[in-house]
Amino acid sequence: MSHAEPKPLMSKPAAALRGQLRVPGDKSISHRALMLGGLATGRTRIRGLLEAEDVINTGKAMAALGCPVSKEGDTWVVLGRGVGGLTQPSGDLDFGNSGTGTRLMMGIIGGHDMRVRLTGDASLSRRPMGRVLDPLAKMGVEVEDGRKQLPLVMRGTSELVPIVYTLPVASAQIKSAVLLAGLHALGKTTVIEPEPTRDHTERMLRHFGGIVEVTQEADGRHVTVSGGTELTGRDVTVPGDPSSAAFLIAAALMVPGSEVTIEGVLVNPTRTGLYTTLLEMGADLAFLNEREEGGEPVADIRARASRLRGVRVPAARAPSMIDEYPILACLAATAEGETRMDGLAELKVKESDRLAATAAGLVANGVSAIVDGDSLIVRGGTRVAGGGTVQTHLDHRIAMAFLTLGLVAEAPITVDDTAMIATSFPEFTGLMEKLGAAFEAPEPAS
Ligand code: S3P
Repeated sequence: MSHAEPKPLMSKPAAALRGQLRVPGDKSISHRALMLGGLATGRTRIRGLLEAEDVINTGKAMAALGCPVSKEGDTWVVLGRGVGGLTQPSGDLDFGNSGTGTRLMMGIIGGHDMRVRLTGDASLSRRPMGRVLDPLAKMGVEVEDGRKQLPLVMRGTSELVPIVYTLPVASAQIKSAVLLAGLHALGKTTVIEPEPTRDHTERMLRHFGGIVEVTQEADGRHVTVSGGTELTGRDVTVPGDPSSAAFLIAAALMVPGSEVTIEGVLVNPTRTGLYTTLLEMGADLAFLNEREEGGEPVADIRARASRLRGVRVPAARAPSMIDEYPILACLAATAEGETRMDGLAELKVKESDRLAATAAGLVANGVSAIVDGDSLIVRGGTRVAGGGTVQTHLDHRIAMAFLTLGLVAEAPITVDDTAMIATSFPEFTGLMEKLGAAFEAPEPAS
């Protein structure tokens, strides 16, 4: 999907935010539900699916591979083809802005005798794909001209060889791509992750009847999937996305007098690094009504405005909050003292170079932010000057983080383009407005 027309937006200082609401379904789980639904036999019914561009593109890809995807009332239904049963698409598969959609689908396509051209937008076409294609090559997948970026043409095979693969970087996308290919291989495939990453693929494979063994060894977590096991269509309930909830919670913490509760948020421990960090910073957060929904832990999260202090965020925590650094850095700008975030190399290869984009956005709005190797250091204070324009580089999370910071800046903060917010959280501005925030389009430059 291309976004020809940039949509700039400006956020303005807000009065106390108040309310209780839900955020849309988790993006990672939504992608996986559509994919595993297509690989299972029979019907999979998905409630709470995130209806955002990234996930819709995965649904279109599954449909193009032979699995009808439709909506009945508020439930999405996938008619699965069974493991190894996908069919050759008649055209290219366009993944838009989505690294997760692309990389996980590479693992699935790799296990089928088919030749498929994969494309994406300008941001996705700059992102590294070798991290997934290299282990898939060991299993027997070929890429024409050895390309490691989109657009590229993959040739899969129904005779994949199982491997044992140690992740070179902490990435759930690489782990998941290898496990999904392993599901189609002749034997057991093991991924060793030195640091734990989000485990939704493992959980959901089991939910659909797959055989997944997990052991903790000296060199990390070993995840083994048995190839050739049949999956059966199931019901899936997608919990609220903690990475989307993060913006509303951050807004409540920043704006004096606020109290906001977000219901039904995923609190899987592989995703809650931001919340651990916020508690260390002194945030008034409560996890209410903790329960299990669809095999994942969820809670209602209540946030009250808080005076935060700067902290040091250890590198080991990065995988559990990798998408939350832009909003944490914005919160750090409002905290007392210095916040140092270490181990952020992976931020450089997200939808934008988020390390550089976050620091530049803060500096443009009068906040002291320094990139030191793979670390980001933000000096907070009692005031954020604002008045600057943030370059979002086709990155939804940069746009949402700085629109949130604008709620407490002295002068409005403008983001150059909000069109990409539709890739993950189309309801963002509407929900913020429900809580009491205000946004407006800036005057066009004359
Ligand atoms: C995701 C994994 C993370 C994350 C992305 C979603 C997933 O990427 O940034 O938004 O669903 O597996 P990496 O695996 O590249 O860290």
